[in-house]
Amino acid sequence: MDDIKKGLFITFEGIDGCGKTTQLELLDKYLRKKGYKTIQTLEPGGSDIGKSLREILLHHKGYVSDICELFLYLADRAQHFETVILKNKNEGNMVLCDRHIDSTVAYQGFGRMGDIEKIDFLNNLATKNQKPDLTLLFDVDIETGQKRVGKEKDRLEKESLEFHKRVKEGYLKLAQKYPERIKVINANLGIDEVFLQVQKIIDDIL
Ligand code: TMP
Repeated sequence: MDDIKKGLFITFEGIDGCGKTTQLELLDKYLRKKGYKTIQTLEPGGSDIGKSLREILLHHKGYVSDICELFLYLADRAQHFETVILKNKNEGNMVLCDRHIDSTVAYQGFGRMGDIEKIDFLNNLATKNQKPDLTLLFDVDIETGQKRVGKEKDRLEKESLEFHKRVKEGYLKLAQKYPERIKVINANLGIDEVFLQVQKIIDDIL
């Protein structure tokens, strides 16, 4: 890959409770030690507008239609992609992003049983047809994930077991579809063992 020393856009994906946020922080430290400039960001909520959208998406008390939910995630992504992801990538920073396009396919597509082709189209619109350089998919058993989430659940985390199963299966289908970009990590293990898998993938790329 050209320009490998700078500007990689890496996304962290998986069902709720998969441990991706902890691993993102560990990778951030690891890359900084190696001398890379990094930023940590997230979807929804990585831009100014996104912070308000995240609040609605995760904590709105009343009814939210599936299409409304989809557009709010996409609105968050469009703003975040242009003002945070692209900007930082162009400045040569490693962008470590907690959730991105694959979350929408997995949750609003497979989870809510939405139209995947339409979601792909909207994702492309929001990201100017660009894809992450690498996606780490933290694959965890539903039960382990649910335990890690704990009792304080947000709007999506409160969804049924069936919903979360569809999301997990959706992610694995995505990994089969895009094997070059999406690397599956066994996230049922302890934090250090999971990070060893992350480190190996990153070392192979850098
Ligand atoms: P998290 O930041 O704690 O992972 O929470 C974000 C929640 O939003 C999580 O339950 C997954 C969900 N989500 C979607 O349903 N679609 C999306 O496109 C994104 C980015 C997140």
